[in-house]
This record gives sequence, C-alpha cells and structure tokens, in this order.
Amino acid sequence: MGFNSMILVFIVVVGLCPYWAAAVTYNVVNLGAKGDGKTDSTKAFLNAWAAACASASPATIYVPPGSYFLRNAVFSGCKNHAITFRIDATLVAPADYRVIGKAADWLAFQDVTGVSILGGILDGQGTGLWACKNSGKSCPSGTTTLGFTNSNNILITGLTSLNSQKFHIVINGCQNVKLQGVRVSAAGDSPNTDGIHVQMSSDVTILDAKIKTGDDCVSIGPGATNLWIENVACGPGHGISVGSLGKELKEDGVQNVTVRTVTFTGSQNGVRIKSWARASSGFARSISFQHILMVDVKNPIIIDQHYCPNNKNCPGQVSGVKVSDVTYQDIHGTSATEVAVKFDCSSKNPCSGINLQDVKLTYQNKAAESSCANADGKASGFIEPKSCLY
Ligand SMILES: *[C@@H]1O[C@H](CO)[C@@H](O)[C@H](O)[C@H]1NC(C)=O
Repeated sequence: MGFNSMILVFIVVVGLCPYWAAAVTYNVVNLGAKGDGKTDSTKAFLNAWAAACASASPATIYVPPGSYFLRNAVFSGCKNHAITFRIDATLVAPADYRVIGKAADWLAFQDVTGVSILGGILDGQGTGLWACKNSGKSCPSGTTTLGFTNSNNILITGLTSLNSQKFHIVINGCQNVKLQGVRVSAAGDSPNTDGIHVQMSSDVTILDAKIKTGDDCVSIGPGATNLWIENVACGPGHGISVGSLGKELKEDGVQNVTVRTVTFTGSQNGVRIKSWARASSGFARSISFQHILMVDVKNPIIIDQHYCPNNKNCPGQVSGVKVSDVTYQDIHGTSATEVAVKFDCSSKNPCSGINLQDVKLTYQNKAAESSCANADGKASGFIEPKSCLY
C-alpha cells in the first residue's frame, strides 16, 4: 500500500468515527503542490480545501516549508466549520500584474464559518503594479491579497502580508473575526496598499499588528461595528482611518470602535476620521482613541469632512456624515506639522461630543496648534495644544 493510499485509509477511518474527534490533516504537497516557487500549486490548494470541507471532523490544511506559486483562488462553499490552514511557507502571487490584477482578491474566502489561518507569508508581488500606477499609465486596479467576505468565526494569527498589489487584508460582511500578530509590509509610497480594511462587519478584533505600508495601516469603512484595535505599530502609512465615509447617499454607519495602545511613527496621519463632502446617511459614533504615541506624525489627530479628491462630484457640497461621541484620551508625542489637532467638520452636521482628555502634542519642541470648524465638545486634564472646541 502506497503512502498516499495509507493516508486515504486513515482519513476514511477517521471520517467514519466522528466520536474520535481526531482532526484530519491534508498536506498540500501530497496533493501535488510544489514548494519550488514556480510550479502552479493552485489546484493542489483547492483540492486540499475540497477534501477538508468534505471532512466530518475538524480538518487542517498543512503547507510545509517552501515557496508556493498560486494564481488567484476562491475558497468557498464549505460545510466543515472547523478548518485550519497551517502555513509554514511563503505563498507567492504572479509577478505580472496582468495575470490577476483584475481579480477582486488573490486569495478569497467567501461564505465560510470557522476558518483559522495560522502563520504564513503572503507575497503579493505588487511592485510592478505600483510602478505602473505611479507612472500615470492606465493600469488594472489591482487585487487584494487576502479577502474574507460573508464569513463568521475567523481567526488569523501570525500571518505576514508583503507587497500587496492593492489592499493587503479585507474583512467585508463578516462577524467575529480575530486578527492577531499580523504583519504588513509594503513601500511607504506604494499606492492603495491599505494594511487591514474592515467594513460591513461586526465584532472584529485586531491585536498586536505591525503595519508599514503606503496607505492606511487600518481603514474602517461603512458598516463596521464593535471593532477593537489594540497594540498596533503603524508607519510608514496613512494612519488608522475611519473612512472614507459618505461616498454613497445611502450608507451604513460606523459605530463602537476602540483604538488603543498604538504607536504611529512617521506616518501621514495618526487617528483620522474622514468623510466625503457629499450628502449621505452615513455616520461615525462612539469612537474611542486611547493611549497613543505619535512620533513625527503629520496630522496626529484629524477629522476631515471635506474629502473631495480631484474636485469631482463634490465641490460646493457638505458632508452628510454625522460624527459624534469621539474620545481622544492620553495621546502624546510629536507632530511633524504645526497643526497637530484638526477638527474640520461638516457645516450641515457639526461634530458633537468630542472629548479630549490628556493630550500633549508638540511641534519642534514647542506646543503645536489646533484648528476647529463646526466642532463641539469638551476638554479635560492636561491639553496641549489648547482646545478649540466650542
Ligand atoms: C462595543 O464593542 C466591544 C467589542 O469591541 C464590545 O465588547 C462591546 O460590548 C460593544 N459595546 C456596545 C455598547 O455594543
């Protein structure tokens, strides 16, 4: 009996004895994957997925050390609600952006429940697409490295995402997602390479992340609720951003977001709330930023409700997005520009319930400045720059 058929017998036996509750393991190499960095292993991964999904007991898909070339793949339609991807390897995307640059995701998980990804390096090979975009040529919009859509009970730990074409990790339409110890790395000038993007999702937790990238370290889109972000290092990057909100007329709001114990280093923004200058039903409420260190950050604290890129479809309009109950507590460090605190709110929907507590931000060893428009709230404790809230 060959090795593979022994495994098969083992799997069948385990499958027939659910009370054993032993997890089965599918090694992608036994299913034809090659860790040589160039053989297309997509089929082997999808076959491992199909086998794991067909298993009646918890299943592990194991990727042993090596470098595995994968085209874009969709992992979906799974009845097994206990699947673990254990990745001791690097997964490599096609270097030529024309191959998958129009796919929404390189690695997509859709309509799954109970999937864990442990470890692994995802190499999105995005440099070619960034060069195309930065040269002003017309290029595909690019692919997200790892996307979870309409999924529940997801765990991602110890994963590294390198050089994504576009967003690194997207959580969209999901419940109960935990990302722990995720690392993201891409050039500071790489376009649209957000680290982790969360939207239309609830109960998402991001812990212990290190993110260096060319766009937002974490971006929080419409419909994100009960989001907890703790112990993150961000920079280079565009900071942790709620928004852009209010692009659509009918839009879900963002509610109950906590961001705490974060260090921003040399980033364009620290903590930001951003909305389009357009009519919208969107909102951002109950947002809390606590225990934050700014190191040479251009806009450490900013609410910008006048976002109107290229002055298209919004000039002369005001944002319909209502921003309320936003707390900034124990935020200190250095600003790279004079204005360290900027609340530029909508004249139609002034910001309300802004709460500053113990803020100390300096610019070139002096107190920085603050700037307010349509911003209502209060300040307590030590506040520098002086509050301009009314
Ligand atoms: C806010 O979200 C946290 C998780 O981030 C959750 O524990 C808490 O219950 C939520 N609060 C409300 C009022 O929903």
